[in-house]
Amino acid sequence: MTDLIDAIIKRTSEPRLIAPAPSGEVLERVFECAARAPDHALLRPWRYLVIEGEGRTALGELFAQAADNDENPLPGKKEKLKNSPLRAPMIIVGIVRHTPHPKVPDIEQYASAAVGLGYVLLALQSAGFGAMWRTGAVAYHPQVASGLGLTENESIAGFLYVGTVDSHKPEVPRADTAEFVSRWPNS
Ligand SMILES: Cc1cc2nc3c(=O)[nH]c(=O)nc-3n(C[C@H](O)[C@H](O)[C@H](O)COP(=O)(O)O)c2cc1C
Repeated sequence: MTDLIDAIIKRTSEPRLIAPAPSGEVLERVFECAARAPDHALLRPWRYLVIEGEGRTALGELFAQAADNDENPLPGKKEKLKNSPLRAPMIIVGIVRHTPHPKVPDIEQYASAAVGLGYVLLALQSAGFGAMWRTGAVAYHPQVASGLGLTENESIAGFLYVGTVDSHKPEVPRADTAEFVSRWPNS
């Protein structure tokens, strides 16, 4: 078993996160891992925002404003939405940048960005931190997107909540490979 395989097999999301969050060289290396995502036609269909400290309060305000939107209110309790970014010391927003391309449909560009987010999760855990990929309605609300400075051709792939693991969550049952791997044609 290689160290990498071992790290992947041990990967798990961690929702209970406290300070410190990664910084400096560690964070830089984490984003270098994101840049290793397979990328059809090298479109670089991703970018990331790092939100910490008071930025999390501002993000909560943005969620609350979207909850107050008259035409398209975010579902959910406003106060809960407002406090949700405070669940971790750092939030990394993974953004997909869609570029019209004759050979690379949007779904492939999303796939590349999503793989990058997965690498970020793995790298964070490998560096001794915990993280959890979250979306929910906040990830798809146009007011949240524009408040974060996304352009028309961008969308949010996920909010990665990042920090130091306070206490580990219970073990998640993992799928047995026999349930999702088969041979074609059948022998
Ligand atoms: C695109 C995407 C969005 C997700 N959004 C949420 C979410 O909003 N809330 C949540 O509790 N889990 C969400 N999850 C699932 C968790 O990140 C996590 O994968 C799940 O709790 C299983 O834990 P594990 O990663 O340890 O297997 C999402 C996962 C993905 C891939």
